[in-house]
Amino acid sequence: KTVAVLFGGQSSEHEVSCVSATTVISNINADIYQILIIGITKEGKWLKVSNTEEITSGTWRNNTETAVLLPDASLKSVLLLNGKVSELVKIDVVFPVLHGLYGEDGTVQGLLELAKIPYVGCGVLASAVSMDKLYTKIIVDSIGIRQAKYVAVMKKDLTDMEGVVKTIENALSYPVFIKPSNAGSSRGISKAGTKEELISGLNLAAEHDRKILVEETINGREVECAVLGGNEPKASGVGEIVAAADFYDYDAKYNNAESKTILSPELPAGAAETIRDYALKIFKAVDGHGLSRVDFFVDRSTGEVIFNEINTMPGFTSISMYPMLWEGKGIGKPQLVEKLLQLAFA
Ligand code: DAL
Ligand code: MG
Repeated sequence: KTVAVLFGGQSSEHEVSCVSATTVISNINADIYQILIIGITKEGKWLKVSNTEEITSGTWRNNTETAVLLPDASLKSVLLLNGKVSELVKIDVVFPVLHGLYGEDGTVQGLLELAKIPYVGCGVLASAVSMDKLYTKIIVDSIGIRQAKYVAVMKKDLTDMEGVVKTIENALSYPVFIKPSNAGSSRGISKAGTKEELISGLNLAAEHDRKILVEETINGREVECAVLGGNEPKASGVGEIVAAADFYDYDAKYNNAESKTILSPELPAGAAETIRDYALKIFKAVDGHGLSRVDFFVDRSTGEVIFNEINTMPGFTSISMYPMLWEGKGIGKPQLVEKLLQLAFA
């Protein structure tokens, strides 16, 4: 069987994806699968990559051989183009190790649906709604799970900034978080304690998306739960992120060694079970398949479990929570990767 691994991508999480991909590739069983590695540059070029060393060193970006996935369902192939020479490589399954926009948001999943090639992870709908913070809110509201109170703002509304600020100030109290609805890994997110900060936060978020979410601040511990499976998904144990920075921003997440992950942290009575139950309910509500990591807060004063976000292609770096949570359940990375590949056919 041939598995095509897609990584990189035109998203702010491009670099994380490169690290995740090396972990995934090194854990694919080479006795079962031929691996065709395809790197997508930030500009959207699809390149054939020979090995994980090229990914780690970054030299893959200088490669010249193009490797594009064809939408033609009769071919189910990747087309290799190197100057004049071209070859069609039949693909049995795709592992899109892509985070964020143009990869985790249903776009690549749509291409794979057209091509009729099985792929790892969530389908178009689950990917798209989970990437869009506003639509995730709407779905999670519909199943009655507690989440941060919010106000949705459209970029075009910012022409009446005073009106927008009034609406927000009537609904929420400072400090608030301002987030682009559709961007990954905390980019474009800010915290505002004053009206001035709110205005600059709204303008910043508007650089990333035309839909903006303003949320109440939850003073909570950050906990995460992994979900794995198809028709009968299972939830892992719970892990906690102890961030180094003021909140878990892009830097704290990926560039700061002080951020710690704790497996099975001590939580208020019943919280871990609630988290696992909610994780599965949310995964099902967004029509998830394969895998997701569902993130929550545990309120520091009330102990209440509050939904934060769902990631349909969670980080797969060596220190990432998703594989770590399954390791905690006795499922090592090679077994996890194999299970995910099998679920692509389910
Ligand atoms: N979006 C990053 C990769 C994560 O949630 O793990
Ligand atoms: Mg994400």
